[in-house]
Amino acid sequence: MRETVEVPWFSSPDDVAARLSATGYLTDPATATTAYLAGALEKPLLVEGPAGVGKTELAKAVARATGADLVRLQCYEGLDEARALYEWNYKKQLLRIQASQGHDTSWAETHDDIFTDEFLLTRPLLTAIRRDEPTVLLIDEVDKTDVEVEGLLLEVLSDFQVTIPELGTVTAVRRPFVVLTSNASRELSEALKRRCLYLHLDYPDAEREREIVLSQVPELEALVAEQLVATVGRLRDLELKKAPSIAESVDWARTLVALEIRELDDKAVDDTLGVVLKHASDQERAVRELRLRK
Ligand SMILES: Nc1ncnc2c1ncn2[C@@H]1O[C@H](COP(=O)(O)OP(=O)(O)OP(=O)(O)O)[C@@H](O)[C@H]1O
Ligand SMILES: [Mg+2]
Repeated sequence: MRETVEVPWFSSPDDVAARLSATGYLTDPATATTAYLAGALEKPLLVEGPAGVGKTELAKAVARATGADLVRLQCYEGLDEARALYEWNYKKQLLRIQASQGHDTSWAETHDDIFTDEFLLTRPLLTAIRRDEPTVLLIDEVDKTDVEVEGLLLEVLSDFQVTIPELGTVTAVRRPFVVLTSNASRELSEALKRRCLYLHLDYPDAEREREIVLSQVPELEALVAEQLVATVGRLRDLELKKAPSIAESVDWARTLVALEIRELDDKAVDDTLGVVLKHASDQERAVRELRLRK
């Protein structure tokens, strides 16, 4: 068997902060520390928080920063083992059975033949476990799955091994860096949480959001950036159906640059609010409460 030299994921929280920011992801100290620990302790990292605060992007950034490949399991209602772990390629197995008929092969031989790697369709969880190259496994929106899938995840994430009855047990040569994300649309089980490190990601403070926006839209002028971040902050304080996310701040910045708007006055906000707020009632409320209209 090939020896794999295990390079640690990160050498310190500062190392996380520096390397992630070099790939365009700006962390706060809590995020950097938790991500460092997830790597050092080889524990899955559960990231919970509202939409658009950078949960999914964190996993992608870890992959970019460490040169690991990203394997993604997108969760949804009705996701099952066959889609998450592996399934047998029935069609191909049938063809092989048909092809072997008429030949002098016993069922035992055919059986041994069709339950081999060649007929296995590996899905993200098994793929991540079998890889011997550094891998970031992103289990995205885990709160969208049914509870049974959580049981499956528990098994996989406790031992990093999968048992395929016909083939035997596959154990991870190198544990993947696992990131689970959740919008907290339902409570995850205590058992799953226990196996993970937990990070609550929230909207960034104004300073960090300004940095994020400017790193993605460097053409934005300093004054507008300041005003944009302040306005987004005020919008988030209102009780809206859908508060603006970081992605929407960035879109807004791009819009303002495209329209060559140099100051975010009432008119500019009125003209472009659709980029940030996507519900008519939210827009009305924002306009009213921010007293944008005279
Ligand atoms: N810390 C950050 N540094 C740089 N960009 C960020 C950061 N956080 C978020 N972003 C930007 O915000 C976008 C949205 O982030 P992401 O898709 O990760 O959100 P999410 O939390 O997974 O949301 P959802 O719950 O809707 O899936 C990213 O594509 C990225 O451009
Ligand atoms: Mg996401």
